[in-house]
Amino acid sequence: MCGIIGEIGKVNVMGDILEGLKKLEYRGYDSAGVAVFTDAGVRRVRAVGSIAALEEKLRNDAPAGTLAIGHSRWATNGKVTEANAHPHRAGKFTAVHNGIIENAAALKAEYFAGAAFESETDTEVVVKLLDRFYTGDVGEAIRRTEAVLTGSWALGILCDDCPGTLFAAASGSPLLVIETGNGRCIASDAGAVQDPVSVTKLENREYAALTANAVTIYNEKGEPVQKAPLTATAGALTLDKGGYEHYMMSEIMQQPEAVRRTLAAVPDEDYIRDAREIVIVACGSAYHTGLVGARLFESVRRIRAHAEIASEFRYADPLIGPGTLCIFVSQSGETADTLAALRLAKEKGARTLAIVNVPGSAIATESDEVILTRAGREIAVATTKAYSAQLAVFYCLALGKTEALGRLPEAIYTAIAENDEKCRRVAERIAGCRNIFFIGRLLDNAVSQEGSLKMKEISYLNSQAYAAGELKHGTISLVEPGAPVIATVTDETILTKTASNLHEVKARGAFTIVIAAKHLADKIEADLTLTVPDVGPLLAPSVAVVPMQLMSYYTAKALGCEIDKPRNLAKSVTVE
Ligand code: AGP
Repeated sequence: MCGIIGEIGKVNVMGDILEGLKKLEYRGYDSAGVAVFTDAGVRRVRAVGSIAALEEKLRNDAPAGTLAIGHSRWATNGKVTEANAHPHRAGKFTAVHNGIIENAAALKAEYFAGAAFESETDTEVVVKLLDRFYTGDVGEAIRRTEAVLTGSWALGILCDDCPGTLFAAASGSPLLVIETGNGRCIASDAGAVQDPVSVTKLENREYAALTANAVTIYNEKGEPVQKAPLTATAGALTLDKGGYEHYMMSEIMQQPEAVRRTLAAVPDEDYIRDAREIVIVACGSAYHTGLVGARLFESVRRIRAHAEIASEFRYADPLIGPGTLCIFVSQSGETADTLAALRLAKEKGARTLAIVNVPGSAIATESDEVILTRAGREIAVATTKAYSAQLAVFYCLALGKTEALGRLPEAIYTAIAENDEKCRRVAERIAGCRNIFFIGRLLDNAVSQEGSLKMKEISYLNSQAYAAGELKHGTISLVEPGAPVIATVTDETILTKTASNLHEVKARGAFTIVIAAKHLADKIEADLTLTVPDVGPLLAPSVAVVPMQLMSYYTAKALGCEIDKPRNLAKSVTVE
C-alpha cells in the first residue's frame, strides 16, 4: 500500500506536501519522492527510505512551486531503489500511483516493446501510456489510459503543458479530493491534509482537474459530474473511513499496517515457558484465531493445545490447572463470556495471557499477562484488522519473529490488491444464493470458519464452514445446483484431498470457488480461482482470509445490507 498526495495553491506547497507525506508514512516507507512544477518546469526529488531521507535530500535544494505531488512507497512491483521510487516521468507526464496494475507486463509488450524503461514499476507503464495517448487533452489521455488498465490505481498527475492544473484519477484505490483554506489537494486519506473544508471521494474511473480556484470531476465518459462532498462537518467518523464507503472496507485496507505495527510491538518474551498445555478461549472471530493458534502450537511447538468457545468453557468445569496456559483473545477486551472464562481459569490456578486490542479493558487488566494488538480503533462490527492482528500475535508465539513473518504485511496488501476487483464481480453471483459453503482442511478449515462468519454476519445469507473431508458425512446433501462452495487450499500436502472434495460438490452442480496459494492455483480446478501470495501454509490464514472478507463485503453491498452495523449485532457483547 502506498500513500499519495498532491496540492495546487497560491503559495509554495512544498511544506504541505512533506507534512502530508509524514502523515501517510504508515502506508509504506520504502522510498519517497516529490515532483514540483517550478518556474523551470517539473522537478523530481526521490529518496530510498523514510520521508526523513527525502527531507535530508531537500534540505539544501528544495524546489518550490504552487503545484506538486508526493508519494510514500511500499514496494510491490520492483525492488526498493531510487529508480523505482515515485514520482515516475515519461515525456510530458509525471505521476504518483497507489495500487497494482495487473496487466502492466502485457501493456508494456503491446505498447512499448523494445522501449527503454528507467524503472521496474507498473507505474512507469501508466505514465508512458498517458504520454502515448496525449494529443493535447489530458482528460482524454486519462480516459484512454484507464480503458486499457486492469487492476487498481489512484493517480496524481502533472502534465508539462498544464502548469496550473493538478490531475487525479482513481479506480479500486482510495483517492480523495480535498479543499482547504490554502488550496486544493488530493490524498490517499483525509488525515494527510491540514484543515480540510470539504472532502470528496473519486469513485471508480472518475478523474479530476484541480486548479487554484476550482475542482472539476469527470466520469469515465469525460462528462463533468456534480458530487456531494463529505464535508468536514459530517463528523470525524466520516473522515476516519479514509475515503471508503464503509469502515469495514477501510479496516480491510488497514490490515497490512495493523499487522506490521502488531508484529513490531509483540515483546520478545517466552510467554509459553513451561506450559504443559495451552487452551485458547474466545468468541466469534477471536475464537477463529484460536483455532489457528492451537494448530500452530501443536504442529510446530508440539505442545498440546486446543481452542474453546468461551460460553461453553465457562460452564464445562474444564480440566485445567497450574500447568495450563489459558490464552484469552478479544478485540474489545470486554466480551462477557470471555471475561467470565478468564475468571474461571484464574480460580482453577491456570496461568492467563490475554491478546487484546483495547488497552485497559477488563480482560487486559485481569489477565496475568497481556499482549496488545496494534490494530487501532476498529469501528465495523465485523472484525477484520483486529482478527489479522490477533493472528500475527499467534505467529509470534508459535513460530517466533521469522523473516517470512516480516514479509506478511506486504503479502496481505498484495492479496487485497489482486483480489478486490474479482471479489467485487463474483459477489453479484453469490448474492443470489441461499446457502454458501466454505471448506478446507486443517488451517484452511480454521480460516474458512472466519470466512463463513464474515459472510453470515454482514450479508445475512446462510453460510457454513466445514472440514472439507466432513462434507460427505451429511452436509453435502445441502449442496444444490449453483450453490457456491468456496474451498481454501494453501497447503500442498492436502491439496489433492480438497481437490477431490471440490469434484464431489461440482458433480452436484455447485459453483466452485477456490482460494489458492499462487503456486498451487494451476493444480486445482474451479469455476473461479482467487490466488493469494505463497507465504507458506503456516502463515496462509492471513492471506486466505482476505478474499473471504472482500467477497463478504461486496456480497453484503450487492444486497444493500447495512455493513458496518449489521442487524442484531454489537461490536462488543458485554452480556451473556
Ligand atoms: C466478528 O466479526 C464478530 N463481530 C464477533 O464474532 C466478535 O469476534 C466476537 O463477538 C468477539 O468479540 P471480541 O473479540 O471483542 O471479544
